[in-house]
Amino acid sequence: MLDTLILAGQVVVPESKGRALRGTEMNELKIIDNGAVGIKDGVISFIGTAEEATKLQAAETIDAAGKLLSPGLVDPHTHLVFGGSREHELALKQQGVPYLEILAQGGGIHSTVKATRETSEDALYEKGLFHLNRCLTYGVTTMEAKSGYGLDKETELKQLRVAKKLNETHPIDLVSTFLGAHAIPENYKGRPDAFLEEMLSMLGVISKEGLAEFVDIFCETGVFTVEQSKVFLQKAKTAGFGVKIHADEIDPLGGTEMACEIGAVSADHLVGASRDGVQMLGESETIAVLLPGTTFYLGKDQFAPARDMITSGAAVALSTDFNPGSSPTENLQFIMNLAALKLKMTPEEIWNAVTVNAAFAIGRGDVAGSLEEGRKADLVLWDVPNYKYVPYHYGVNHVQKVWKNGKLVVGKGDVHANYTLST
Ligand code: NIG
Ligand code: FE
Repeated sequence: MLDTLILAGQVVVPESKGRALRGTEMNELKIIDNGAVGIKDGVISFIGTAEEATKLQAAETIDAAGKLLSPGLVDPHTHLVFGGSREHELALKQQGVPYLEILAQGGGIHSTVKATRETSEDALYEKGLFHLNRCLTYGVTTMEAKSGYGLDKETELKQLRVAKKLNETHPIDLVSTFLGAHAIPENYKGRPDAFLEEMLSMLGVISKEGLAEFVDIFCETGVFTVEQSKVFLQKAKTAGFGVKIHADEIDPLGGTEMACEIGAVSADHLVGASRDGVQMLGESETIAVLLPGTTFYLGKDQFAPARDMITSGAAVALSTDFNPGSSPTENLQFIMNLAALKLKMTPEEIWNAVTVNAAFAIGRGDVAGSLEEGRKADLVLWDVPNYKYVPYHYGVNHVQKVWKNGKLVVGKGDVHANYTLST
């Protein structure tokens, strides 16, 4: 006897090959028409057609004929825990002051560092909870959370501890990344190497307390060079961490190539990735995490060359880059719209990029981002007629219900208009 049986017009089943999908594989997406998914003890115990499911008994049956069921989405790059906000920078952006200029003048990331240092651990937790709840309502059940708004030992640890507590108490599974190398703080101005050593000296306690699995660095003009980033990440790797990089986000410095060379789990942003970089992504295991919301919000015309990457055979994932400066949004569905319109990705590629590939980009490919019997039941019911509809209809939240480990966590009262669009 199942606990719950969900019948849906379409069930999205991203393929789990034990690794991220690459190149043309990204355009393959298994869809079960008139499908059914069964849940027992928090785990998926049946996937098939509604017809096959007629032989099953369930304590509760949800008839969502004409709607879409998918795995919980995975958001693999966020700066979830921070103090304050930066709406005061909007006017500067409108006047055309560049992002790196605001940073160089002590604003941008530095302004959030100040606010985060001044915010108590409890208040950061409450604020993180607020954002996390919103992510959940948009269909995300697993996501990454970076530190990087402390730039000193005490505050970096405070952020990481908040993320750990959020992971323990909130339905969303959080994967933590240490981004102490996010900017150079005032007291280390002109001494980037000394600052990086200071951040590396934290790896012992981070690993002892289980505060992060990954280490990341902002490789950018005026922040850290490719060479500094390489040395830093190699040391983090030797200390047992998976490594990630903010690369070629604003200026094309060659961080993409370096990430592939050192075996980074992911290279993120990649707007200015060179031809060589794109080629190397196609030949390496490094996953390209693209963040078109950031390009949009920074007001740039040129987006990451997603099509070239997929043609070269790369594995592409998508993410919000949720943060208070360059991408203040928890809405991964809007990122799916931007991926369609600005990155020219197909609906199939987009779904794979926010499920299976996103999960592999944060080391969770074996548990998240796909539907398989025996996996925990992280599911989203969408108030849309088919999977192509989500990247198409933008600016609204299409999620009707979310289950985490088989438990209904969003949509208990069915607040959404409960009518079915025709296919
Ligand atoms: O991914 N570029 C560096 N880090 C973030 C932005 C952080 C901020 O502006 O607060 C990013 O864009
Ligand atoms: Fe980021």
